[in-house]
Amino acid sequence: MYLYDAWYVAAWDHELGGAPLARTLLGMPLVLYRAGDGRAVALDDRCCHRRAPLSKGKVVGNDIQCGYHGLQFDPGGACVRVPSQSTVPPGARVRSYPVIERNRWVWVWMGDPTAADASQIPDLFWHDSPAWVAVTDRFHVKASYQNLIDIQLDQTHSRYVHPTSLGNDGAVATPPKVRRDDRTVRCERLMPNADPPPIWAKIGDFTGNVDHWIKWVYYPPAAISFDVGVYNVGTGAFEGNLTHGISVRNSHSCTPETATTTHHFWVAARNFKLDDPEVHRAIGAIRNTFLEDVAIVEATEQRIADDPAAPTIDVNADHPTIQARRLLARLIEEAAGRRAAE
Ligand code: FES
Ligand SMILES: [Fe+2]
Repeated sequence: MYLYDAWYVAAWDHELGGAPLARTLLGMPLVLYRAGDGRAVALDDRCCHRRAPLSKGKVVGNDIQCGYHGLQFDPGGACVRVPSQSTVPPGARVRSYPVIERNRWVWVWMGDPTAADASQIPDLFWHDSPAWVAVTDRFHVKASYQNLIDIQLDQTHSRYVHPTSLGNDGAVATPPKVRRDDRTVRCERLMPNADPPPIWAKIGDFTGNVDHWIKWVYYPPAAISFDVGVYNVGTGAFEGNLTHGISVRNSHSCTPETATTTHHFWVAARNFKLDDPEVHRAIGAIRNTFLEDVAIVEATEQRIADDPAAPTIDVNADHPTIQARRLLARLIEEAAGRRAAE
């Protein structure tokens, strides 16, 4: 079940160049391209003539030309040219989707275009601020987007899935504060005088315990941001003195491709030692850490598929996950209610 009236990350901005890009979101095949005037365009990837994928065609000016019989569609999806005749049949068009590029991500609104609300896109400034340097990638994950979101929302997994990079005892021992409002789930785990995760100990040159926090926000349906702080104990970091340690921001978009596969766009950004290749390499290694997430989530997905009705239990650490699922379920229900009332 999907929330259609929502923005989903469909691509990195640099993925839209001269050639059309085929990408399936929420089970719907889309073609994405950059028009001649620079704007990003998303259309149904199915020509309204004989249903060839438009992604097999080519960009012509601001339009896309089908690679089968040459029909041409403008960024709004209207057919503007049929090469074999002088007129365009009435109603010849494909569906077009609202698109916004922000912080290097290409967001597509998958529902009713009249409801598209740009203010719902989170501000992920660390993707492209000159004060930050970001390591980025996109994974294709053979698991549902909800299962991939689950692992992001519960960091107690880090101790076991990422013991050599992000794992620490502090996150397991410290329950987070969780706050849910109409559009987000906001969580924070403050860990004074805690053992630093190995990767931050190395990068920040910490030799003993640290004051450590993880603050994270779930923006339904599919985005999560992280603010991670690692500072020398007792130097006032929790009170806002950020001079004795390091801060990191991460983002994840777990964009559903189908019910059982996901496009995972991620960013790991820092605002310290911007030109240090050693630090860049060390943070770049977080790619392997995120691949550990993929491995456990894909294996879990397989077990779920083997027996979807197998009973499960919840534990206290599931609090953020449960709140996130409730919020998403409520938004899906409200959207269904709006459609029924129309
Ligand atoms: S199928 Fe696209 S032009 Fe014929
Ligand atoms: Fe993880």
